[in-house]
Amino acid sequence: MTGMPDAAQRPATGAPPAAESLSRDGTTAFALELRDVRKSFGKAEIIRGTNLQVRPGERVALIGPNGAGKSTLFNLISGRFGVSSGDVLLHGRRLNGLKPYEINRLGLARSFQVSNLFTRLSVFENLRCAVLWSLGYRYSFWRFLADARDANRRADDVMAMIKLDRRRDVLAMNLTYAEQRALEIGITIAGGASVILLDEPTAGMSRSETSRFVNLIREITAGKTLLTVEHDMGVVFGLADKIAVLVYGEVIAFDTPEKVRADERVKEAYLGSVLADGQAQGPAQGQAQGQAPAEAQAAGH
Ligand SMILES: Nc1ncnc2c1ncn2[C@@H]1O[C@H](COP(=O)(O)OP(=O)(O)O)[C@@H](O)[C@H]1O
Ligand SMILES: [Mg+2]
Repeated sequence: MTGMPDAAQRPATGAPPAAESLSRDGTTAFALELRDVRKSFGKAEIIRGTNLQVRPGERVALIGPNGAGKSTLFNLISGRFGVSSGDVLLHGRRLNGLKPYEINRLGLARSFQVSNLFTRLSVFENLRCAVLWSLGYRYSFWRFLADARDANRRADDVMAMIKLDRRRDVLAMNLTYAEQRALEIGITIAGGASVILLDEPTAGMSRSETSRFVNLIREITAGKTLLTVEHDMGVVFGLADKIAVLVYGEVIAFDTPEKVRADERVKEAYLGSVLADGQAQGPAQGQAQGQAPAEAQAAGH
């Protein structure tokens, strides 16, 4: 009986209290970890020894100039590309050599910088496909029927989360640009992954769309681990617990927003120019890197 309060504070696994910060082999404390990850395309080394440690539930913004390797890093984490060397770990498990769908089923999901919707399917159908796919549906009639009912329910839940329930039967191609981006995030999280990677989720949005969208991202990813590529410094400083600055394939800083903002190397390499015209929250910050206009991207798929 005297042991009860203590037990209540500890994880049900009976893990020692220290497990929260570091396990004995130093791996399991992080939801996502990169260890000296390198990637070359031909002779060009694009990712040059990246280390990153993201704790469960942490929100990390990955920033850096165009061409720094941010999307490449996402491709390495999600298994679209293999690393040239180094390790990627998800909850302490090495992902090297796994296929994207295998990594997805281990609980990591990503969105793409370029739209990935089925434009001729409705909102509901897009979500339902994403759910069924993530269930790893194999052909068994009875199981399919049960899964299909679950999938419908899950698709409805996600639709409500992304606030598109009133657009249920609208084809993806007929949604507004911001709605399409919301649907993409819905598709990304539909399978219930605990680690979410978003590549420029607010690209091409107006300022007011962006701020609404950031609130949506915050709600949808509550309790999850988030790694997001973002150019809008207002979004970065409003959303992120930590910022990783990638310049020419190297993480030159990884710290809290305040510390990164004050970092001389970061100012020199990247933030100086971006922050020059007012501090992060200022309304003038907007599309710091000049995104493509919404109309141009909305039509893509
Ligand atoms: N599949 C690929 N083959 C060859 N080069 C690539 C490939 N993908 C990306 N790159 C190169 O890697 C560099 C980083 O690109 P990227 O990761 O898209 O940058 P970011 O997302 O930071 O703007 C660029 O020089 C780009 O041309
Ligand atoms: Mg990119």
